[in-house]
Amino acid sequence: MAILGTGAQAPMMSDDLYRRLCALIHDQTGLHFNETSRFFVEKRIEGRLAALQMASADEYYQYLRFDPDRSSEWDALIIAVTTNETYFMREERQLRCFQRDILPGLLGRPNGRHIRIWSAGCSSGEEPYSLAMLIKEAQSTRDAAVEIYATDINTRVLAKAREGVYTENSFRTTDQAFKEKWFTESGPGRWRVKDELRQGITFSRFNLFELERYSLLAPFDVIFCRNVIIYFDLEVKAKVVERFYDRIKPGGHLLLGHSESLISVTDKFKLVHLPTDLVYVKEGGA
Ligand SMILES: C[S@@+](CC[C@H](N)C(=O)[O-])C[C@H]1O[C@@H](n2cnc3c(N)ncnc32)[C@H](O)[C@@H]1O
Repeated sequence: MAILGTGAQAPMMSDDLYRRLCALIHDQTGLHFNETSRFFVEKRIEGRLAALQMASADEYYQYLRFDPDRSSEWDALIIAVTTNETYFMREERQLRCFQRDILPGLLGRPNGRHIRIWSAGCSSGEEPYSLAMLIKEAQSTRDAAVEIYATDINTRVLAKAREGVYTENSFRTTDQAFKEKWFTESGPGRWRVKDELRQGITFSRFNLFELERYSLLAPFDVIFCRNVIIYFDLEVKAKVVERFYDRIKPGGHLLLGHSESLISVTDKFKLVHLPTDLVYVKEGGA
């Protein structure tokens, strides 16, 4: 038995409670936390306890499970535990590959003038707005109808995405000309995305681990799910990617983040070498 010396702090929660909280978060969101994430998760939960003026983590666990008003607390907890790092033109080589090597192929199909793209785990919107810019820049898309469905589980980042106002951090890899072309200054160090980019983007809350919701979505030509599945364990990755497979049109593409792959997740997609990048393709297109 551990004996706490003078001044030593009692642990915030027992090992057992920590595991049960992680399991609860996992069941709701697919997010995988383990012993190495303990400091991070405990800090976030400490913040929630303070906000709710709640005395113990055990009480919080019961609240998350059983309280009739728990859904708003789930929103707050998800805001606290998700990692929302993103910026404009992130992994630009892949985005250019989409613009140069994938988009023209889509437009060249019979009935190709209507294109559906999903930015799954879009965070505060830099990814879908970057896609909208690339599409607008591509001459060939002039008379095409392109829909971008941009979703995230975190309601706070989605509100930011809808507002479309960004600070320097979001422009860390882009130059002044990029900013001036697509944004208007809306205050010191604040830039608002131009309305022409918002058209065609629908922001919506979608939890990728609500597996039954996918069947409500019309199929997509391209799914971007970048830097999201790294937060899932293998089993959740496999379930989510399986749903992506169902929701991608034959011949459609799945683009993951550069540190992510489908090795040991699924072999349903074909890994294709395009001139500037590697992408996953659902076979069977024209
Ligand atoms: C690191 S950001 C990636 C943003 C963007 N795709 C990029 O690559 O720059 C990961 C995003 O995935 C979201 N996310 C995590 N779990 C999710 C889930 N179960 N359903 C939907 N989004 C989720 C987080 O809220 C976060 O905004």
